[in-house]
Amino acid sequence: MNKTIFITGASSGLGKLTAIHFAKMGWNVAATMRTPDKETELTKYSNIKIFKLDVTNVQQVRTAVEQAIAAFSRIDVVVNNAGMGTYGALELADEEDIDWQFAVNVRGPINVIRAFLPHYRANGGGMFINISSMMGVTTAVPTGSLYNMSKFALEGLIEGLYYELKPLNIELRLVEQDGSSGNNFVNNVIWNTNEDIKDYDAITAKVKRMFENMDSSRLEDPQNIVDEIEALATGASQQFRTLVGQSSKNLVALRNSVPIEEYLEKVMANFK
Ligand SMILES: NC(=O)c1ccc[n+]([C@@H]2O[C@H](COP(=O)([O-])OP(=O)(O)OC[C@H]3O[C@@H](n4cnc5c(N)ncnc54)[C@H](OP(=O)(O)O)[C@@H]3O)[C@@H](O)[C@H]2O)c1
Repeated sequence: MNKTIFITGASSGLGKLTAIHFAKMGWNVAATMRTPDKETELTKYSNIKIFKLDVTNVQQVRTAVEQAIAAFSRIDVVVNNAGMGTYGALELADEEDIDWQFAVNVRGPINVIRAFLPHYRANGGGMFINISSMMGVTTAVPTGSLYNMSKFALEGLIEGLYYELKPLNIELRLVEQDGSSGNNFVNNVIWNTNEDIKDYDAITAKVKRMFENMDSSRLEDPQNIVDEIEALATGASQQFRTLVGQSSKNLVALRNSVPIEEYLEKVMANFK
C-alpha cells in the first residue's frame, strides 16, 4: 500500500516542494493550506489531495485531519512545516504579532500533533517531522528574538515529547533549515515598527539589508532540505535533529565551541 504524508503550509516554498517531491515518489499527499482556492499547481497531481488548514485554528485542524484520514485511511508521516517570522525590536512589537508568532510556529504544531495522536496510537505508530530552523538551536541576527523564541520553543516541545511518544512507536524529527531559496518567508516577515522610537533603527536597518542582500547563491537549495525530509520519512536517516546548510553548521559549531558570552559578541560584531 502506498504511504501517505500530510504537510502543513503547502501553498509555497518548502511545503509545496515537499508535496510535489513525495507525489512524484508515488506517495499519497495530503497538502494543507490556508487558501486552497488559490492553488493551481498541486491540483495537477492525482495523488495529492488539498485540505483547508490554518494551523492556529484548532477546529479547522481537527476537521482537516479527519478529512485526510477519511480520504487516505492511514497517514504515515506528518510534516509540521507552516511557519512565519516576526522581526524587529521586541519593544516595538504589537501585542497581537507577539501572540501570532507563537500561535503559528508553536501552537500550530501542538494543534496538529494533538489531532493526529489518536490516529497514530490506533495505528501503532507514525512520524512527525518538524521544520525548525538554525534559529531554533542558536541565535544568529539581532531583532530576531520572537522568531528565535518560537523555534527554540518548537525544539523544546519536540524534545520533551520524545519520552512519552517513543514508547508508542511515534517518531519525532526536527529539521533545522538554513535560509533557503524559492520561498516567501522573507516577504511575509512581520516587521515590528514604531515611528516614535528611533533607538533600534540602525540595527534593524542592518538586519533588513542582510535579508534583502541574500542572493540565491548564498541560500540553501531547498531540494537539499526535501532530500533530508525524504531520508527521514523513509527511515534512511534516523537522526532526531537534522541541521541543513553549511552556514548553519558553521554557526552551530562556533556556538558549541566557545563560551556563550564570546559567541554573542561574535554575532553582534557582524552587525556593527
Ligand atoms: N525560508 C527560510 O529562510 C527559512 C529558514 C529557516 C526556517 N524556515 C522555516 O521553514 C518553514 C517553511 O517556510 P518557507 O521557507 O517555505 O517559507 P514560505 O514560503 O513563507 O512558507 C510558509 C508556509 O507556511 C504557511 N503558513 C503561514 N501561516 C500559516 C497558518 N497560520 N496556517 C497554515 N499555514 C500557514 C504559508 O501559507 P500562506 O501562503 O497562507 O501564507 C506557507 O505555505 C517555516 O516553518 C519556516 O519558519 C524558513
